[in-house]
Amino acid sequence: MRGATTAWRSLPDLLGGIGWRLLVRVLFFSSVITLLLSLMELYLDYRRDVGAIDQRMTEIDSGYRQSLGDGLWRMDERQLRLQVEGILRLPDIRYVELREASGQAAPLVVTAGSRQANPPVRREFKIVYPNRGAEQLLGVLVVEATYDRVYRRLLDTAAVIMVGQAIKTFIVSFFILLIVHRLITRHLTAMARLLGKYDFRVSQVPLLLDRRPPRSGDELDHLVEAFNQTCTRLQVAYAKERRLVDSNIIGVLIGNPDGHVQEANQAFLRIVGYDQADLAAGRLRRLELTPPEWHDRDDRAVVEMRTTGTVQPFEKEYFRKDGSRVPVLIGGATLDERGDAVVIFVLDLTERKRAEAELTHANRVATMGQLTASIAHEVNNPIAALLVNAETAVRWLDRQPPNSEKAKPLIDRIVSDGKRAADIVRRIRDFSKKAPMRKEDLEINEAILEIMRLTRVAASEHSVSVKTRLSEGLPHIFGDRVQLQQVILNLIMNAIEAMSEVSEGSHELLISSGKADSDGVLITVSDSGPGLPEVNPDRIFEAFYTTKSSGLGMGLSICRSIVEAHGGRLWATPNEPHGAVFCMTLPIGEKSIKSPEPSSV
Ligand SMILES: Nc1ncnc2c1ncn2[C@@H]1O[C@H](COP(=O)(O)OP(=O)(O)OP(=O)(O)O)[C@@H](O)[C@H]1O
Ligand SMILES: [Mg+2]
Repeated sequence: MRGATTAWRSLPDLLGGIGWRLLVRVLFFSSVITLLLSLMELYLDYRRDVGAIDQRMTEIDSGYRQSLGDGLWRMDERQLRLQVEGILRLPDIRYVELREASGQAAPLVVTAGSRQANPPVRREFKIVYPNRGAEQLLGVLVVEATYDRVYRRLLDTAAVIMVGQAIKTFIVSFFILLIVHRLITRHLTAMARLLGKYDFRVSQVPLLLDRRPPRSGDELDHLVEAFNQTCTRLQVAYAKERRLVDSNIIGVLIGNPDGHVQEANQAFLRIVGYDQADLAAGRLRRLELTPPEWHDRDDRAVVEMRTTGTVQPFEKEYFRKDGSRVPVLIGGATLDERGDAVVIFVLDLTERKRAEAELTHANRVATMGQLTASIAHEVNNPIAALLVNAETAVRWLDRQPPNSEKAKPLIDRIVSDGKRAADIVRRIRDFSKKAPMRKEDLEINEAILEIMRLTRVAASEHSVSVKTRLSEGLPHIFGDRVQLQQVILNLIMNAIEAMSEVSEGSHELLISSGKADSDGVLITVSDSGPGLPEVNPDRIFEAFYTTKSSGLGMGLSICRSIVEAHGGRLWATPNEPHGAVFCMTLPIGEKSIKSPEPSSV
């Protein structure tokens, strides 16, 4: 009873989804089969009933022929009628007629029952009587039968079968449905419900079916096992991914191509100085995090991500929450086919930049060290002139009366020589100072000449003749004067050192400036030294590559990074007939601002 009530209550569940389709199909197929079987059964019944009527006709023939022959012989109409009525009472017989076969005008006719228009069964039996050894035809017995009763019985049977089978089919189908529900569908529904709210990010209890376990595992057990295994694998994969992100070794963020940061690890938040609350409030967006001069580079990265699915690492800067800038190396990849989600890896370059700046500064100080004689000479010149002028001026003023007319221009020269000396000292101090990078509009020829002055003594010590070929009216460069001068100084010193290695031939150094093919300025430093290494000449730009006993091998590598930080290029080619030419291009004006730049020097 309780089972029936439960079944009734769970009827909507039963009939939902595959339950209803199962019911319809079971009903349809069992109805078709029932119908076919019933038709066969009815046909057999029909055949049997028709056979019974035939059998009855045969019995009439054998059972009544004798007595009817006697009756006709004796013309006993009463007895004949009794017999005819007796035949009529037999099942399915509708009409019986006995007709005397005499040649008289009014033969004896005994009938019973009612005649039908087209009787389905009609038999005629000849009634003969043995008379003096011969058979004499006395009359004819006509018996007509009907199938009415046969049909009625068939109909009754059909009705009973149909109703019975319909009820049976329905009950069986319902029980099949109930069994399928109890055995399968309710578990499937429970699994679907669990899967719907399954969250592999939090640890979940394994799925268990609400049933007494069968002796040996069935298909559902296999399904549950496979499901639990998949869940475990998913959790392991997710834990690995989380470990990757939460290890916080590098900054990792997940966002969409519009630049909206949806997820970020602590390492990234630390780099940009934001916290989880800022992230949750949607305050982290690429556009706001990126200084305006990096927007172009970011746009190119977005295009690269769309076309190739990845972004190769590149350097850029982010704004920290406090408005300061942080140099980073970033790369990334799309997380799905459509590129709706992207993962970005961010490496803080602050330390590296600081180390680079230290190195650049150390290189500058070291180069300055090599130029002490030159510097002393540069400072000495105005001071010597200043002393001579001062002494002469004193002499003019010592006269009686003092000749201030003559002394005044000398004092003016003393002042300008003093200024010149102070200017040189200031420049040298600026050059050796560790100051943050400062880009300004600068005239490259001026910068070249200024630094060349420091190398004069070094050049003459090594018998190097220095020539310049500086084009006039060059466009201005937007760059850091000290850093660009450091590059030129390194190139000049390398050339002087290289030429000092070869004793024969003239030592010629040519410094030229001009317009580059591309929109920019080209500066070359050519020498007549031993030239570049034959194998892999570009390795001279690698850090720590040196052929000198006292060299560090950092000069050219620093030069290249400075030039590239200005958006330019530095390379070397062989000189004719021997020696090397170092070429550098620098973009003009504001263009150089859009390139990566070391944060401080
Ligand atoms: N003008 C040149 N001609 C021939 N070889 C050169 C020239 N300039 C540089 N090189 C080669 O390239 C190497 C690397 O030069 P780089 O300036 O980087 O380092 P370095 O001069 O050896 O040491 P330092 O770090 O003190 O500058 C040199 O050791 C030298 O072999
Ligand atoms: Mg060098």
